[in-house]
Amino acid sequence: MQGDVIAKKEDKGWFYTDTVKEHFFHPKNFLEDEAAYGDAYLGMVGSPACGDAMKVYLKIEKDADGLERIKDFKWKTFGCASAIAATSMLSVMVTEHGGMLLEEALKLRPQDIMLRLGGLPARKIHCSVLGDKALRSAVNDYYRKSGQIDKISLEAGRVIDHVLKITDHDIEEAVLEGADTLEKVQARTKVGTGDPSCIPEVENLIRFYKEKYFGA
Ligand code: FES
Repeated sequence: MQGDVIAKKEDKGWFYTDTVKEHFFHPKNFLEDEAAYGDAYLGMVGSPACGDAMKVYLKIEKDADGLERIKDFKWKTFGCASAIAATSMLSVMVTEHGGMLLEEALKLRPQDIMLRLGGLPARKIHCSVLGDKALRSAVNDYYRKSGQIDKISLEAGRVIDHVLKITDHDIEEAVLEGADTLEKVQARTKVGTGDPSCIPEVENLIRFYKEKYFGA
């Protein structure tokens, strides 16, 4: 179903839902005054796909039960309309109803944002991942500053092709850019051309990232 939501209007060209347009033209929680967020937890990422950058500022508080909730999420980006709309929606999702539990926010998937937006053109899915990655980076900043070092999750790349030094992140980026077969991923990365023994693992990763980002 989620795949349908993502792709349902693709045959009509560059289609944006009314919800996407609302969040693009009227972004929610956009960071106006960076200085006012000097004490917030900061996450920053750039997209290797298009050179765009995203900053997220989080305020996190413990509720009466001692559970960590996101009380504020501000962001700014050089990304495109899809990145703006998706991050605006993400900011609403994690702050509505008194703030999402931190552990629930970390379980959010790109498809969850897609569903709330009513879909994005498939070639724009990678834009929606920017906000999510910056959120994770900001949560790591929080864990680091609050002494919860064991909870920090780093996205270090794992080398898959040892000849060309291609990592799982390179495969991930290729899939996010629309390469959905081994041939298409190879056309972008050359993975496996020098070391064919890694191809079964590459095929597994392509399946994994297609399921993760496109629900297919
Ligand atoms: S953020 Fe780069 S194309 Fe959307």
